[in-house]
Amino acid sequence: MLRTHTCGQLRLTDVNTTTTLCGWVQTVRDKGGVLWVDLRDRYGITQLLLEDGQTDPELFAIARSLGREFVLQATGTVIERKSRNPNLPTGDVEIKVTSMTILNAAKTPPFLIDDETDGGDDLRLKYRYLDLRRGAVRRNLELRHRMAQQTRLYMDGQDFIEVETPVLIKSTPEGARDFVVPSRMNPGEFYALPQSPQTFKQLLMVSGFDRYYQIVKCFRDEDLRADRQPEFTQIDCEMSFVEQEDILTMFEGLVRHLFRAVKGIDLAEVPRMTYADAMRRYGSDKPDTRFGMEFVELTDLAQGKGFSVFDSAQLVVGINAPGCAHYTRKQLDELTEWLKRPQIGAKGLIYVRYNEDGSLKSSVDKFYSESDLKAWVERFSNGEPCKPGDLMLIVSGEAGKARKQLNELRLEMGSRLGLRNPNTFSSLWVLDFPLLEFGEAENRWFAMHHPFTSPKPEDIPLLDSDPGAVRANAYDMVINGTEVGGGSIRIFNRALQARMFSILGFSEEDAKAQFGFLMDAFEYGAPPHGGIAFGFDRLCSLFGGADSIRDFIAFPKNNSGRDVMIDSPSAISDAQLTELSIATTVS
Ligand code: AMO
Repeated sequence: MLRTHTCGQLRLTDVNTTTTLCGWVQTVRDKGGVLWVDLRDRYGITQLLLEDGQTDPELFAIARSLGREFVLQATGTVIERKSRNPNLPTGDVEIKVTSMTILNAAKTPPFLIDDETDGGDDLRLKYRYLDLRRGAVRRNLELRHRMAQQTRLYMDGQDFIEVETPVLIKSTPEGARDFVVPSRMNPGEFYALPQSPQTFKQLLMVSGFDRYYQIVKCFRDEDLRADRQPEFTQIDCEMSFVEQEDILTMFEGLVRHLFRAVKGIDLAEVPRMTYADAMRRYGSDKPDTRFGMEFVELTDLAQGKGFSVFDSAQLVVGINAPGCAHYTRKQLDELTEWLKRPQIGAKGLIYVRYNEDGSLKSSVDKFYSESDLKAWVERFSNGEPCKPGDLMLIVSGEAGKARKQLNELRLEMGSRLGLRNPNTFSSLWVLDFPLLEFGEAENRWFAMHHPFTSPKPEDIPLLDSDPGAVRANAYDMVINGTEVGGGSIRIFNRALQARMFSILGFSEEDAKAQFGFLMDAFEYGAPPHGGIAFGFDRLCSLFGGADSIRDFIAFPKNNSGRDVMIDSPSAISDAQLTELSIATTVS
């Protein structure tokens, strides 16, 4: 070993011992006769001391020549510091250096390697290996490591077996777009990278593995957002001989174990809500339940008073923003403009101020008397109390759209009012998702979760008559408004699976060509089974109190799906293309 200790290890009890440390130069402070070097490694920072007249002059000269991020080996005696640094675990001691070797010089880094850095996103991604030296990023990856360790501990303790499934698989038309890989040995044919190991884990159940899990890379060619990467990691799980309740219990157990082991938090029992209730109460299938501000429907009260916007609306619905009656006209206009942006697309926003003196003032006073507005307040007060000083914000229109818009407004108001503290955790199971959703553009039904999800047995008779009303045995876990996991009880019967493909518009031949292997397997003794997959990166970022999953991935892609460090994706040579039987660019 080139060192005896790490840079995070030495304490007062080590005074007078000789130590050799290795690390990177964080800073050099030259006070003329005294020189301090902060030496950093993964474990911390230790201060080195060199004094003119006491330290060998040659050493002193070397120390003066050090630049930021030089790699250094230093030997010396641990001494007590004259002025201690209470912010560092090693802050009581320093090393009186007796010898020092520059193991490698370094160019000046393009940004500050510190928790507070001056580097922009692009620069830090280009030099990700330097960004990873920063404590803030390193701590995120350490958290990720602990999450993976604790996941394995829990799953192993519950008799789950970790099985690796292939990465070169087959492209299928359902779900997101596939990333594909050309096969040299099979000209003109392509593998696809898995969007998830869904069919393989089901086959493992047919094989009798009973309890499977895998911390596994998945690939989806979809538009990126803060909580989406083209390659991401799932904790993917499947169990045999279970019902929905068994899965909810088992994986609520996993999440609670992670909270306890990694964050020291005892998560309350995870409440449950149906999809229909979530949409009605929050306008979202992943509501942020850290705060209230639930939806209040006013359609019956608001219609028939001559206000045509409300009269022609399918739904009039609002939220109560506590303590916001003081919002100025300018603030309300700004909020309205925010809601009218194309991303949200509201036509407008109606407000009612519940003034501190008890009077009510709305933006539609022309149509509604004070007693009308009083009835609104009463309706609002059916849930959380609506008090003087509050502000009611109301939208209207087609029910689905109005709810979506109000969901955005609710989240925005929650943020503005400081109700979305990243260190508070509120979890929820959302249950009874619809099995199917209709794609207007494609004019056909799509599986809301995936085609292997089983309908609720009592809803099967509706499959032909009213497919949109069929509920699935599907569930999502939502924490703080983020969908951290989702799964379902599966179809395990060939006839029902074939029927499902037919509803999704597959011809019999197509279904056979794409998924024949699974339907065949169902004829060889498939057990009832179900499972779930957690977005591991999302769980990590949530535990770390951050919005972006990028900070919890060692080498992430940027928003255009590029790895700007290795410059990928990139063109390949004509020779490679020819070898892969892919036509070269026509000039
Ligand atoms: P689903 O598609 O819901 O289910 O994915 C499971 C979880 O994976 C996370 N996730 C993502 N995380 C980061 N970037 C992405 N692009 C991304 N896409 C999804 C989410 C999500 O809840 N095979 C099924 C699971 C099952 O039925 O067992 C599946 O993949 O947190």
